[in-house]
Formats: sequence, C-alpha cells, structure tokens
Amino acid sequence: MPHFLDLSDAGGDAIAAMINDAQDRKAARQAWPKGRPDADAPLAGHVLGMIFEKNSTRTRVSFDIAMRQLGGTALILDSGTSQLGRGESIADTARVLSRMVDAIMIRTDDHAKALEMAHHATVPVINGLTDRSHPCQIVADLLTMIEHGKALPGLELAWLGDGNNVLHSILEAAALMKFNVRIGAPKGYEPEPEFVEMARAGGAHVTLTEDADEAVAGADIVVTDTWVSMGQEHVHDKLAAMAPFQVSNRLMGLAKPDAKFLHCLPAHVGEEVTEDVFESDQSVVFDEAENRIHAQKSVLLWCFDKI
Ligand code: CP
Ligand code: NVA
Repeated sequence: MPHFLDLSDAGGDAIAAMINDAQDRKAARQAWPKGRPDADAPLAGHVLGMIFEKNSTRTRVSFDIAMRQLGGTALILDSGTSQLGRGESIADTARVLSRMVDAIMIRTDDHAKALEMAHHATVPVINGLTDRSHPCQIVADLLTMIEHGKALPGLELAWLGDGNNVLHSILEAAALMKFNVRIGAPKGYEPEPEFVEMARAGGAHVTLTEDADEAVAGADIVVTDTWVSMGQEHVHDKLAAMAPFQVSNRLMGLAKPDAKFLHCLPAHVGEEVTEDVFESDQSVVFDEAENRIHAQKSVLLWCFDKI
C-alpha cells in the first residue's frame, strides 16, 4: 500500500516525476475555473477522507480542490465532530474509513497516530502535517523553487528560525534531491539530529549555525516558518531567542541577488519575517500556497499508482 507519510516513502525519482506531472497539469489548465476537472479526470469516482486534529486553511482547501481537479471528491472529519474526538481508536477509524473512502489524509499532533492509521488502513494514507514532518508542503516548495528557475541539485537553501516539522521535511528533501541546507537557529531550537544525519547520509551538505548572517550568505532560497508551531506553548524566552533570525531586508541582502523567499504560511509578519520582505518581489509565498494544489494532485496520483 503506497502511503505518503514522509518524502522517503516515495523517493527522489518519484518526487521528480511528481513535480514534472504537477507542472504539466498546472500548465494544461491555466485560466480554467478552479473546480473544473482536468481533461483526463484520472481519479473520477474516488473519494478522499481528510482528518483534521489541528487547524488548516491551505491543506484543507488544496486537497479538496486537488480532488475535484482530478475528477474525485473529498470530505472532512474534524476531531471536534467525529467519534475520534470522543476516543474512538485510530485503528478502528482506519478500518472503517478504508471501507468508505479511497484514500485518507490525516493532520495530527502526533506522528505516531499517522503511522498507526497507515498500519491499520487498507487504502493510502497521506501525512497532511504532524509534529514531526510536513511532506506535502515540501513537494509544493520544490515545485515553486523550480518554477522560479532554481535547479535543485547543488542549490543552497537557508533556513532561519525554529528547527520544526517543516525543516525536517526540507532536510529529507535535501537528501533525496541533493541540495544543501544552511540552518540558522538559536541553541536549543535545532532540528532533530536524525533529519540532519539523514540529509548528510544522502549527500547533502548541512550546516548548523547560530549566526543568521552566516546561514543566509550566498543562499539561493531563504525559508522561514512561524516561531511557535501549532500545539506549542507561546514561550516568551523562545521569541527572544528567535529575534536575530527574523528574515529582514538586511539578511536578504546577504543572499544571492536573485534569491527567493519562501514561507509555508500562515505567517506572523513582524515576527519571523519583516513586512518589506514578505511583500517584496523576492517573496514567492502565494505561488507556493497555490502550488499546494498542484503538488498534492501529484501526491494523490502517486498514491493511486498513476505516477
Ligand atoms: N502551510 C499549511 O500547511 O497551511 P495550513 O495550516 O493552512 O494547512
Ligand atoms: N510549523 C507550523 C506549520 C504550519 C503549516 C506548524 O506546525 O504549526
């Protein structure tokens, strides 16, 4: 059963194929109404069940629209209104949903729950964000970088701020797609070492520094994310520690002149990024958000063995 819980489930060749397919499908439907199915409607009749234990705007809407564009439909279960919220087990939920839908997407606070869902499901399970990783986001990010003229092998990506779930998936992508990551993060907020080791084992050059200038110098891509992820405490000390890593015009000036700024959104403008960077020509955050649709169509097609 092809589950998409992390980027390694697919591997580098499949991710490259997903990005190509996403570009082709995106180009083929320019200016079409957003809910109109692609000409081949490859998932006609298919239903995606989406479980949300955390808030979402982009993941929720983009998966729904992705399914419509592939000819299928999607439905949402949130923990507040489903029996999951009253303690029905992941195992039983997985077995019930497998009888009713063709694939499951889960956004949860605990990666172990996504693994358990996949273990008990007999349909593909997709990770729509956990505390550990956010692989669908990174397929969209890779597509966005390529669309903006960046070749992935050898690319220098600078990450500033919290060593979180999004950075973990970037490190996994670095291993698979052979680009380099310079992480500027305060002490105590580095990514999990296993992701750094994974990237290095895959041949990526990864540097960890507490000096934001050093992290961003000469970068092709500058990325950040919220300093306080969903489910984390809003700790004053953390915000103070993060302050030197705010993406500002001064820091962007140290990156390559044609560097692009990415952020998975939602953004906290004035915290992890200044308004002038967020609104600048270097910022491609809304292309990145739109690309969640195009990237997820490829993820879904991969799960159904159509890529
Ligand atoms: N980037 C992202 O996953 O956004 P949502 O939390 O709105 O889904
Ligand atoms: N790191 C953020 C990403 C949100 C899309 C979080 O987990 O809240």
